[in-house]
Amino acid sequence: MRISAFSNPSRKQNAPSSAVAGIKVSQGNHCEQSPGRRHAVEAHRLMKKYGTFTAVDEIDFIVERGESFGLLGPNGAGKSTTMRMIYCRTPLTSGHLLVEGWDVRHDQSKIKALVGIVPQENNLDPDLNVIDNLNVYARYFRIPAGEAQDRAEELLDFMGLTEKRNTWVEALSGGMKRRLIVARALMNNPKVLVLDEPTTGLDPHVRHDLWDRLRELRRRQITILLSTHYMEEAQTLCDRLIIMDRGKILALGKPLDLIERNVSRFVLEVHEVDGRSPLSLAPKVIAEAHGATHYYFAPSPELLTPLISKYSDHKSLLRPSNLEDVFLKLTGRDRLD
Ligand SMILES: Nc1ncnc2c1ncn2[C@@H]1O[C@H](COP(=O)(O)OP(=O)(O)OP(=O)(O)O)[C@@H](O)[C@H]1O
Ligand SMILES: [Mg+2]
Repeated sequence: MRISAFSNPSRKQNAPSSAVAGIKVSQGNHCEQSPGRRHAVEAHRLMKKYGTFTAVDEIDFIVERGESFGLLGPNGAGKSTTMRMIYCRTPLTSGHLLVEGWDVRHDQSKIKALVGIVPQENNLDPDLNVIDNLNVYARYFRIPAGEAQDRAEELLDFMGLTEKRNTWVEALSGGMKRRLIVARALMNNPKVLVLDEPTTGLDPHVRHDLWDRLRELRRRQITILLSTHYMEEAQTLCDRLIIMDRGKILALGKPLDLIERNVSRFVLEVHEVDGRSPLSLAPKVIAEAHGATHYYFAPSPELLTPLISKYSDHKSLLRPSNLEDVFLKLTGRDRLD
């Protein structure tokens, strides 16, 4: 697989003019920081209001360079809004946001040159074929035509789309469109790749293929910001992640740390127990009832095995706890809004 073009940036960026010691918020609303402490993204009291509605509510987080960082949360949590502020598509209402040390309020053109974007909605040009979608996109970044052509061919190869290079966009499957958008996002050789639900609607083969590509990009030190509703995806791809709800960050950390911190390591699920209360057990076992399912969390499976016989007339499953358990615990298992 040829991906050499990624490591050969055609554009040289100057250091941010505001690169001074420490992360400071100066009077002029301009963040300053030392090159030694530069992060891929820094959000400080970041807020977005649409009219009176607060979509993102004074959140703070840092994405380290080269890490794979996840945004999880129910529908409407504020993930896309946060991402759109990062790639300068949506202006922030208040707070501070730096991308590779540049301030989204003042340095939009610098940031746009450094960031690759996979938006939540497919927005390919339906009037162009596959290769021309990439070539036309390259013009926004003033990449010379010959170089753009080479890069486009390499990226089609990287994303497994070479056979489709002359196909009209409308004739692509959903998974192929998604892969083409990822290829397009890489045309400007970004330092930071922002992917808003890149694998929604993809079959498991395509999803796993895309995960492999993202791991390869991460190995090449590209910072990855990823939103997803697939907990397995977050657990396998993200070094750290935030769980958001209603514009706030509920939890931030490494997937396994979040699991250990918020739910015990093992869980017994017991199904179809409508109307019954969970059994009371040893102090280390935490019982939760959600709908017709009981969940018993415990630090070791031995604490849970006695329960299996007590529920012998029900379907049950003893398994390691996972990020989905954390997500459901923090955001509410029974919500539908
Ligand atoms: N342009 C807009 N005007 C008004 N409200 C908006 C706008 N964009 C988003 N919102 C609202 O802001 C909130 C957060 O939306 P956002 O798209 O960021 O959520 P999300 O976490 O990405 O959700 P999903 O998982 O469904 O994609 C929602 O209540 C949404 O309706
Ligand atoms: Mg979204």
